[in-house]
Amino acid sequence: MAEEDERRHGGYSRNLWSNGQTVRGTGENVEGGRGVPKVVYVEDAGQEHPIEATVGESVMATAVKNGVPGIIGECGGNASCGTCHVWVRAEFTKLVGEPNDLEEDLLEMAVTDRREGSRLSCQISVSPELDGLTVDVPPQQP
Ligand code: FES
Repeated sequence: MAEEDERRHGGYSRNLWSNGQTVRGTGENVEGGRGVPKVVYVEDAGQEHPIEATVGESVMATAVKNGVPGIIGECGGNASCGTCHVWVRAEFTKLVGEPNDLEEDLLEMAVTDRREGSRLSCQISVSPELDGLTVDVPPQQP
């Protein structure tokens, strides 16, 4: 049954990818979590980096692994350096959720130009629901 479903829906899913059609924030591209969610990193100058991410990996680790400029991740994701600061686009802030106390403290002390939507990307775990997540990368990290 699952194979039959995959065959029946697999083509539809692939067509979405090859056509570049994305329904952002709904996870519709990942068809029940079997596909690959994308994270879009936008540099200060406007250049976009759409990256296929691994579910469960952090938004920071995805960026570093794929050479996205401006996200350093110096502490390796321990919420202690602030060099993974991003601004989550407004349409995704509810989906991403609120920072915990530790992250909140670091955002308060360590990042430059804190705004609504400021998050440490090492504290955001990629999930199918976050497919299309778009974050702006600050021009410089602390
Ligand atoms: S990688 Fe250091 S705070 Fe996120």
